[in-house]
Parts: sequence; structure tokens; C-alpha cells
Amino acid sequence: MFGPLTESLRTSRLLLEPLAVHHAEEMAEALADPRLHRYIGGRPLTAAELRVRYARLVAGPAPFHQESWLNWVVRRRRDRRAVGYVQATVRPGPRGREAAVAWVIGMPYQGFGFATEAARAMVGWLAAHGVTEITASIHPDNVASATVARRLGLHPTPETSTGETVWRSRTTGPT
Ligand SMILES: CC(C)(COP(=O)(O)OP(=O)(O)OC[C@H]1O[C@@H](n2cnc3c(N)ncnc32)[C@H](O)[C@@H]1OP(=O)(O)O)[C@@H](O)C(=O)NCCC(=O)NCCS
Repeated sequence: MFGPLTESLRTSRLLLEPLAVHHAEEMAEALADPRLHRYIGGRPLTAAELRVRYARLVAGPAPFHQESWLNWVVRRRRDRRAVGYVQATVRPGPRGREAAVAWVIGMPYQGFGFATEAARAMVGWLAAHGVTEITASIHPDNVASATVARRLGLHPTPETSTGETVWRSRTTGPT
């Protein structure tokens, strides 16, 4: 649906770079704390494991899935440090393209508004590229993530997906 991401997105404090295999080492360091997995399952991956994972993500799904995997490394502009990532899985939906989004910011970099700033840039890009509905699945106890979702204009719905609350919003489409 989308070709490989080529453009970086710039915000006042952050640069969102299209994910590449060479990001694995710095991301393994940024995401090393097991507490990051409290609400999302799994465990921190080693640089070698991340290289394999990123190669798969960059290659994308098989075309018959009609799905795009969009991943950006979030980098702090001030010191060029990788601080986390944001991602969107885009699919055709009944009212246009839909994107399921997620965000992860390394423990040392949390609480500065980076997730909100990065996710806002991503959602703006998605809206400009024909995505009309955004969803996020958030563990009911994940207050930090719910705060980010609310700030993006998402609302919790009665729907659940593997025990997580599904949040949704319509975008205003391309401007
Ligand atoms: C969710 C996450 C990305 C937020 O990153 P962040 O950069 O700290 O987020 P922001 O600073 O933009 O906003 C988070 C807000 O939630 C608040 N918050 C954080 N933890 C909280 C808690 N336990 N209770 C209440 N509010 C909390 C923060 O204070 C902040 O609000 P503020 O700006 O008013 O202070 C980060 O905590 C994370 O990576 N968690 C692990 C992975 C994860 O769960 N991802 C979400 C998957 S749906």
C-alpha cells in the first residue's frame, strides 16, 4: 500500500527516522529496561535479535496482506540520541485507510512529552497520506499510554483486543 518510508519527520525536539537495520545497536541500548514490557509483553531484545526483527519489519508483509508496516526511530535532536520508536500498521478499512498505532519511549527519556510529540507527528503524517481512522490498543492499567492517546484525540471504546482497550479517532484527512 505504501512503498518504503523515505522521509524523516521533524518536530521541535525530535527527528523521526524511517527504521533501518543499522538502528539495532542504539535501539537495544535505548530499550534495554525490562520495565518497558510491563503492559506490552515480551522482553528487551539484544542488538542481534533487533537486527533480525528490523530486517523483517523493513521488508514489510507479503503483498497479499494489503497492509503496510511503518516504523520510525525517535531521535532527540539536541544530542542525536535514539530515545524510542513509533509505529503504524495501515490497512484498507470500510471508510478509507485505518492505522493501528503504538509508541515506546526508553525509560530514561520518559516523562518529557516525547511520546506525545512523536505520535502527533506520525498521526499528522498518516492523515496527510489518506489515513482516516486511527486505533490504538492499550492495556487498561497503562495510564501513561492512555494519556498520550487522549492527547492525540483518541477515545476509549467498549471494544477490546486480547485484553486491551481499543482507542479510536477519525482524522480530518489530508489538509
Ligand atoms: C507510554 C509511553 C510511550 C509514554 O512515553 P512518554 O514520553 O513518557 O509520554 P509523554 O511524556 O508524552 O506523556 C505521558 C504522560 O503520562 C503521564 N504518566 C506517566 N506515567 C503515569 C502514571 N503511572 N500515572 C499517571 N500518569 C502517568 C506522564 O506524566 C505524562 O503526562 P504529563 O505530560 O502531564 O506529565 C512510555 O511510558 C512507554 O514507552 N511505556 C512502555 C511501552 C508502552 O507501554 N507503550 C504503549 C503501548 S500501547
